[in-house]
Amino acid sequence: MRKLLIVIIGLSFLSFHSCQNESEKESSVKEETIVMEPTIIDDGRVSLNLNAMQKNHQLSNMRSHLEAVQEITLLLSQDNYEKASELAYTKLGSTTEMKLMCASFGDKGFENLGLEFHKSADIMSEVFKKRNKDNSLTALSNTLNYCVKCHATYKQ
Ligand code: HEC
Repeated sequence: MRKLLIVIIGLSFLSFHSCQNESEKESSVKEETIVMEPTIIDDGRVSLNLNAMQKNHQLSNMRSHLEAVQEITLLLSQDNYEKASELAYTKLGSTTEMKLMCASFGDKGFENLGLEFHKSADIMSEVFKKRNKDNSLTALSNTLNYCVKCHATYKQ
């Protein structure tokens, strides 16, 4: 056990030493202790004061939104307007599930912005059906603008 310890200490000294040779400058920087404490920074966004379960639910929903816009972008590039239109509505549109979700966080401003976002996705879904790429991209950008706006305004 002691022997093993000595070997480990010896090896770590060696690796430290070889790093020092590679970059004298870097190794002269003193080791810093990283403190893993949550720091609450006021970044000007409104906090929704969500509990752990709501946070989890919201983030998983958000990851699904991101996946949806990625898939939609690819489908548009392939002129697959039917599938893009279907995804726009089912994944981002004003479905009952989405409306309930927006209302469940207890903030009217957030709820309204969320509903406007879903409405923009309903419109996007209709625009895709007309199979015009420029208009489709403009509609997608319009919906993405709501992602940008909400993220700049609210946090968990
Ligand atoms: C009505 C508000 C709202 C809209 C609209 C919205 N988001 Fe979010 N999103 C949030 C909030 C709030 C968070 C948590 C941010 C925080 O606490 O820092 C979040 C977090 C996320 C995250 C982080 C997920 C994780 O696992 O950490 C992603 C990705 C994301 N959103 C994608 C999107 C995309 C893409 C869209 C648009 C298609 C979108 N969101 C629209 C409110 C919104």
